[in-house]
Amino acid sequence: MELVDINSPGQDWQGARVLVRADLNVPLAGGRITDDTRIVASVPTLRELLRRGAAVGVCSHLGRPKGHPRPEYSLAPCATRLAQLLVRRVELLPDCVGPEVQSRVEALAPGEIVMLENVRFHAEEEANDPVFAAALAAGFTHYVNDAFGAAHRAHASTEAVAHLLPSCAGSLMAREVDAIGGLLERPHHPFVAVLGGSKVSDKLPLIQTLLERCDRVLIGGAMCFTFLAASGDAVGASLHEGPDGQQVARQLLESAVRLNCMLELPSDILVADRFANEATLQVVASDGIPDGWMGVDIGPKTAATYREVIADAGTVFWNGPMGAFEIPAFADGTRAVADAMADAPGVTVVGGGDSGAAVAQFGLVDTFTHVSTGGGAALEMMEGRVLPGVAALPHRG
Ligand code: 3PG
Repeated sequence: MELVDINSPGQDWQGARVLVRADLNVPLAGGRITDDTRIVASVPTLRELLRRGAAVGVCSHLGRPKGHPRPEYSLAPCATRLAQLLVRRVELLPDCVGPEVQSRVEALAPGEIVMLENVRFHAEEEANDPVFAAALAAGFTHYVNDAFGAAHRAHASTEAVAHLLPSCAGSLMAREVDAIGGLLERPHHPFVAVLGGSKVSDKLPLIQTLLERCDRVLIGGAMCFTFLAASGDAVGASLHEGPDGQQVARQLLESAVRLNCMLELPSDILVADRFANEATLQVVASDGIPDGWMGVDIGPKTAATYREVIADAGTVFWNGPMGAFEIPAFADGTRAVADAMADAPGVTVVGGGDSGAAVAQFGLVDTFTHVSTGGGAALEMMEGRVLPGVAALPHRG
């Protein structure tokens, strides 16, 4: 599946007025951006369109303001950061629709860029309202969707608007779909998935799909304690799910056997007497976590095994940290997986979210084949689901 994108043959951007949907949904603390990865990732498409003589209006959501203008969800910090990155003025318009916005858009000169205010200040955005989509499109000649991180949402700015203007993907969207689609359509074997995170039940469809496609699935993170509990092992004070989650884990263990996929659980665990960097730590066998101790990371033996499996893989997909890596004392397992993937000769793809943040924190992003900017979108695509924001764009062939 290949998308028509801004660089496809025959695209003439000179004099076009392009509505670009980016995903500028970045984390903020006290009005300051704490991680600008998504803004940085939106720059190549914007720069290329401006270089080729287009005028650009970039739109995005930020947070979940629930259909009303709320100043704390203004895109103002994103406009400021984008202007720094593009080294040019990026005016933030007071809204994303309305006569004032439309006349400003129609007056844009080639090479000029403005940012529209948060599309989620209008309830019609999440309702995928066609009238709102038409208002968003007003004044523009083309639509480019570069918001892979929001492609799993059928919203007016990601879906409906694509049917109203000549449309194509931005270069980030095209790269994301190619990288994740490649894992689904043409993985090099052995195909290994490394999965962490807290809940098995939340990731049931993803794990089921991976069991069907992968040769090995390596489990870490808090979800391993649900698997261990489901297998009858003592998990002490470790975070784990109750009977329903354990039932899901048992189903998955059975599926793995049926599908001839090796679903591997840690053989040793780093346990702590409390959830703090200063905690007392010990490494124990995974089938006997003592009472009162909580698992906070995979153990060194498991990390070494996972390293070897990753080194021999043709393709590795990683989602979810191996432990509570935000606490330095509990970060070794996640670091080991990140290092092993960084050194691996195969294709290495990280599915956004916390593992994407871990790779960024370790300064390893450039050593991977692809680190997705979309958490939920990447996982839904890996589950084999059609993303509405992708489906609405023209495909090649
Ligand atoms: C994300 O951060 O995963 C995307 O920007 C989508 O945001 P949403 O979950 O609020 O739709």
